[in-house]
Amino acid sequence: MILGVPTWFDGELPNYWDEFVPEIEDMDLKGKKIAIFGNGNQKEYSENFVDGIGIMANLLQQRGATIIGHTSAEGYTFEKSRALIGDKFMGLALDFENQAGKNKDRIKNWAENIKKEFNL
Ligand SMILES: Cc1cc2nc3c(=O)[nH]c(=O)nc-3n(C[C@H](O)[C@H](O)[C@H](O)COP(=O)(O)O)c2cc1C
Repeated sequence: MILGVPTWFDGELPNYWDEFVPEIEDMDLKGKKIAIFGNGNQKEYSENFVDGIGIMANLLQQRGATIIGHTSAEGYTFEKSRALIGDKFMGLALDFENQAGKNKDRIKNWAENIKKEFNL
């Protein structure tokens, strides 16, 4: 599975996930590999950059899923992020507002890596 989740409201999931989150909480995701990408804005929301990726990753892990597709946080400038584990994001962080020019390469590299992790 590949999930896309932007961050809204200073470090929260967008409203339209309100219905989906309780469904995830009821799922058994043991043995499932899940990759997450997330939109955010590192300049305007430096204290909560792509927090949605971290919120979603934790939720899915609690249900037994394995999160694949971690990426380096190098090349981004921000204060804090719930998406970080060590020096890596638990998914692919995309910032269309400040670093749109980097998205193509970031997506390409991520896609190649998750293909391997999904054993495709
Ligand atoms: C009201 C509002 C709150 C936001 N809060 C955050 C935030 O806490 N962290 C973050 O990284 N980006 C934040 N953003 C930036 C959005 O994640 C970014 O604009 C993203 O591209 C939106 O994707 P979407 O249009 O697919 O929902 C916020 C944007 C808005 C308008």
